[in-house]
Amino acid sequence: MTILVTGGAGYIGSHTCVELLNNGYKLVVLDKLINSKLESINRVKKITGKDFIFEHIDLLDKKALERIFSDHKIDAVVHFAGLKAVGESVIKPLDYYRNNVTGTIVLCEVMQQFDVKNLVVSSSATVYGTAKQMPISEDAPLGVTNPYGRTKLMVEEILRDIYTSDNNWSIALLRYFNPFGAHKSGQIGEDPNGMPNNLTTYITQVGIGRLNEVRIFGNDYPTKDGTGIRDYIHIIDLAKGHLKALNNVLNSNGIEAYNLGTGRGYSVLEVIKTFEKTAGISIPYKVVGRRPGDVAVSYADPSKAKRELGWEAEKNLEEMCRDSWNWQKDNLYGYLNKK
Ligand code: NAD
Ligand code: WQD
Repeated sequence: MTILVTGGAGYIGSHTCVELLNNGYKLVVLDKLINSKLESINRVKKITGKDFIFEHIDLLDKKALERIFSDHKIDAVVHFAGLKAVGESVIKPLDYYRNNVTGTIVLCEVMQQFDVKNLVVSSSATVYGTAKQMPISEDAPLGVTNPYGRTKLMVEEILRDIYTSDNNWSIALLRYFNPFGAHKSGQIGEDPNGMPNNLTTYITQVGIGRLNEVRIFGNDYPTKDGTGIRDYIHIIDLAKGHLKALNNVLNSNGIEAYNLGTGRGYSVLEVIKTFEKTAGISIPYKVVGRRPGDVAVSYADPSKAKRELGWEAEKNLEEMCRDSWNWQKDNLYGYLNKK
């Protein structure tokens, strides 16, 4: 079976490529390398000892995409390619709609043209907006608060319309909670271009001294220690969720959304403390005001993925901290380091 992976050089894509290769899938990976480096692809090959084709193209380049589908017999697509910075999406909404929404439309047009109708897609817990009930299940009301989130919701709705028009499609919408951690080899991990946006990347970069301190966005939330609570999920568990979703998509028709989370929430302070203990270093922090748009608490009800995909998260917060630190301390400048 040959799988096209879009955005496969990125954080979640590279870890998922390792799982797919280790489970016998052949890959064609495409990436424009706007938030990633070619070195991640080399390391995926090194970790797995398997080779695959890498295409440095833009998903929006329809001709190039058609060439890929005509050169290879693609059985399914795992679609990660997208822009993901919430703040940037407020400043550059058109870039986000064009890249994330139009990119997905171009992909689906070409898939339809080549009669490939099996698709696993990156969605996000962001589609739940400010959920009123915890844990969040897939049938919770949807609502978004920024252009990035809106692109994810629009993509989900577009894909539901495609399925309604043609029941031969088989689509899994994977709503990720907060990915953290790295491959145990320390060879691949998260390496964002520019300033990190997420708490976890911020902590590791403070850990190596690239940044001075973590700013905690508010300690006056109605939570046990006043800081925000999220459902952090190990990147390897997340990658395995894609494998299970892909197996399911290849053996059924329909469109289904699945939460990929652990079902357990940790506060910002708990994450910092656990990281300090695991890495054996101190992480300076200071409390600043709330970040606009943040919710107090968010964690998943992951029972649907367990029931229907046979998937559940296995790794805990200590393992996420340990593996992230293992990657970051040996790759101070991410993939720019020689290793
Ligand atoms: P990432 O930025 O590390 O990876 C995305 C990859 O897509 C990058 O390598 C980038 O170069 C590539 N890309 C973007 N636009 C492209 C285009 N037009 N053509 C070709 N390649 C393109 O991000 P990630 O964390 O691995 O996220 C993967 C997906 O998961 C994204 O769709 C993101 O929105 C979604 N997601 C991420 C998180 C998170 O916290 N990391 C949470 C929920 C959902
Ligand atoms: C986690 C907690 C912050 C940074 C975002 C996107 C979401 C999804 C995952 C893609 C919150 C606090 C953070 C910092 C802090 N991405 N924090 N200091 O906001 O849950 O989700 O990433 O789909 O769409 O919105 O993740 O890591 O930014 O924040 O105190 O420097 O850490 O307030 O409580 P978030 P995050």
